[in-house]
Amino acid sequence: MTVADLHVLWHDLECGRYSADLPLWRELAAGEGDPVLDLGAGTGRVSLDLARAGHGVTALDLDPLLLAALRARATALAVETVEADARAFALERRFALVLAPMQTIQLLGGAPGRAGLLRSALGALRPGGLLACALADALEGFDAAHTEPPLPDVLEQDGWVYASQPVAVRPDDEGTTIERIRQTVSPAGARTAEGDVVRLDKLDGDTLEAEGVALGFRAAGRRFVEMTDEHVGSEVVLLRA
Ligand SMILES: C[S@@+](CC[C@H](N)C(=O)[O-])C[C@H]1O[C@@H](n2cnc3c(N)ncnc32)[C@H](O)[C@@H]1O
Repeated sequence: MTVADLHVLWHDLECGRYSADLPLWRELAAGEGDPVLDLGAGTGRVSLDLARAGHGVTALDLDPLLLAALRARATALAVETVEADARAFALERRFALVLAPMQTIQLLGGAPGRAGLLRSALGALRPGGLLACALADALEGFDAAHTEPPLPDVLEQDGWVYASQPVAVRPDDEGTTIERIRQTVSPAGARTAEGDVVRLDKLDGDTLEAEGVALGFRAAGRRFVEMTDEHVGSEVVLLRA
């Protein structure tokens, strides 16, 4: 497996299996119409689902390897990819709906990064278009020294086993640090392990809504995605251009 394939595999293993939010994105896309812009699209969990439902989708992400995997999976579907930073992008097309699923809005390095996304999204929306951003419910802190960790995400492929184990969640005043160990076991039983760290900004719906309104959006309500056995729930903030 190449380094690029492995990068895509970990992304799919850790993000790609989540589906509790898909009915909400489908409902918003059906109500708002096309085209749809998916910010932080990754390998296309949301973009490809909406394209399969017949929507015209633009998938934007910083990561060229994830976008290449998305394109390979899109085949004949109506998905365009754009490699860009969600904090500073300008597109010629105007969109009916802009989505930031799965806490991408909390990966931007705080308020300045969020303001960049909000300004860019406002510029990308048609007048009256909708921006929808998902925020993770607060994660309960733990570390493996004190609490039994949750089960790992595991995949077996061609005799190799890939397991991504959350080992610590550390909330602090500004956000939450999530630590994982990614383990690979070869068919002969050889193990490798490497750490991965994700930092989520602390952010609540009222704060994001106020930031959006200050930049020219109108508040358009909230939606909620229920927690599942494997994932925390989320609050989705709606802002209208
Ligand atoms: C948690 S994943 C979500 C992937 C996908 N939206 C999903 O719901 O499965 C976050 C994604 O945001 C992307 N991302 C993080 N920071 C970004 C930025 N500043 N601009 C564009 N994409 C970004 C990452 O590359 C990753 O694909």
